[in-house]
Amino acid sequence: THCILIGAPVDEGQRRPGCLMGPAAYRTAGLAGTLAALGHGVEDRGDVQPHGIGTETCGNPAVHHLPEMIAWTRALAEAARTAMPDGLPIIMGGDHSLALGTLSGVASHAAEAGRPLFVIWLDAHSDFHTVETTTSGNLHGTPMAYASGLPGFAPFPPFPAPIPGENICMFGIRSVDPAEHAAMEPTEITVNDMRALDEHGIVAPLRAFLDRVRAADGLLHVSLDVDFLDPSIAPAVGTTVPGGTTFREAHLVMELLHESGLVTSLDLVELNPFLDERGRTAKLMVDLVASLMGRKVFDRPTRSYG
Ligand code: ARG
Ligand code: MN
Ligand code: MN
Ligand code: MN
Repeated sequence: THCILIGAPVDEGQRRPGCLMGPAAYRTAGLAGTLAALGHGVEDRGDVQPHGIGTETCGNPAVHHLPEMIAWTRALAEAARTAMPDGLPIIMGGDHSLALGTLSGVASHAAEAGRPLFVIWLDAHSDFHTVETTTSGNLHGTPMAYASGLPGFAPFPPFPAPIPGENICMFGIRSVDPAEHAAMEPTEITVNDMRALDEHGIVAPLRAFLDRVRAADGLLHVSLDVDFLDPSIAPAVGTTVPGGTTFREAHLVMELLHESGLVTSLDLVELNPFLDERGRTAKLMVDLVASLMGRKVFDRPTRSYG
């Protein structure tokens, strides 16, 4: 596989500075070399920057950095869309608001290619607020609603090709605000919250979804939020929520995604290196990407996360 690394130093979608250092942390933790060692081609396209930041406003006084986020969305949509025909884009975030852009770009590409787009959302949060419903004002809590084509996103550009709920599957969910729950209720989105994963395990629902992607000859975008993982193994995130997935569960998801051969794009989001402990979260994220790209248990080097 030809892997295209794209840095997205987005920090404006939340209020704890540091995610802008994410791309540098992935490079320092050896993401490119790890992929190359697995036999993949690797191209680092450097960091995207927002350009033409405007003066847009909206009716929700809680929302901050709206013009910056609109500019990021445009720039990242273009970066993702143009990378898709060339290989597998891996977007190194950056907070999760970057997915407003990457999902836009991937959705545009899918529409041009005439193939349906599917999304796997690995996150403690559903990120299903709109610009109108968010009470925190942090736009990293909104990309899944934007990609679903919900109203309430003016003055963002309309989402290019809204993704049907039946094409969206969430795992790891354990923090959903009331307005997000209400907005997801009428959709066909599959929400595998931690309660469901405790009871049924993660394998059966993942295989069921992958079977549907394969049957539809779909493209598959994976969005991996650091807080999908339990904070005890991944402390470098601003929005820690207890009760996350374990090291083994997370690798198992990645290994099954690799075996499916279906993944066509990947976001790595919410890593805040300023909150990390000796790089352990960055290294864990790199190792998870390695599993997603074909590293087997027996190939995994012994590595210290401390
Ligand atoms: N739902 C909360 C909010 O809107 C938390 C969102 C957290 N999102 C994330 N990408 N970490 O502020
Ligand atoms: Mn998220
Ligand atoms: Mn999250
Ligand atoms: Mn419900």
